[in-house]
Amino acid sequence: MGRILLAAFALLLTAVPVLAGETVTYEKDIKGIIARQCILCHDAKSPTMEEFGRDKEAFTKKMKGPRLDTYESLMVMVKGSDAGALMRRLDDGKNTKDGKHGNMYLFLAITDAGRTANLEIFKKWVGNWTLKRRKELSRKELEGIKALEK
Ligand code: HEC
Repeated sequence: MGRILLAAFALLLTAVPVLAGETVTYEKDIKGIIARQCILCHDAKSPTMEEFGRDKEAFTKKMKGPRLDTYESLMVMVKGSDAGALMRRLDDGKNTKDGKHGNMYLFLAITDAGRTANLEIFKKWVGNWTLKRRKELSRKELEGIKALEK
């Protein structure tokens, strides 16, 4: 019971600023979610995106995904060389043909409600939530991805 209350409270704390219509930023909203939900497998000891690309299989076996511990490392997967990867991995699949969620979606939180709330925060932060790959994205679409640091 205590744990449920605590989870509900934590959820409220993260959801309130977003519901209030404030701008979502990496520093204020995203960094904390990543530190709680993702850093275990995406920390400073994890490979950079480039290193990861050279041996995906070996890193995956060791439960290491590419680094997500800094704004810069995260941006590679938001609007950099691997633009859209963050969105594809975190998407809940509700607006896709096959209805399948991305394989990092379940890590967003322990409960369905928590995942929905955290996904909403990521969506607001990104601005233009797209599941397209880097090469399919037009300049305009890339520019629509906000993902502010501060
Ligand atoms: C239990 C370990 C673990 C957790 C927790 C985890 N990941 Fe991952 N992640 C991985 C592994 C391993 C890979 C590489 C294998 C793959 O692509 O699925 C990966 C890959 C990714 C990729 C794809 C990178 C690429 O190749 O383009 C993204 C984006 C990502 N994770 C984001 C996240 C986010 C955001 C969270 C937190 C909400 C998270 N992950 C939580 C282990 C994890």
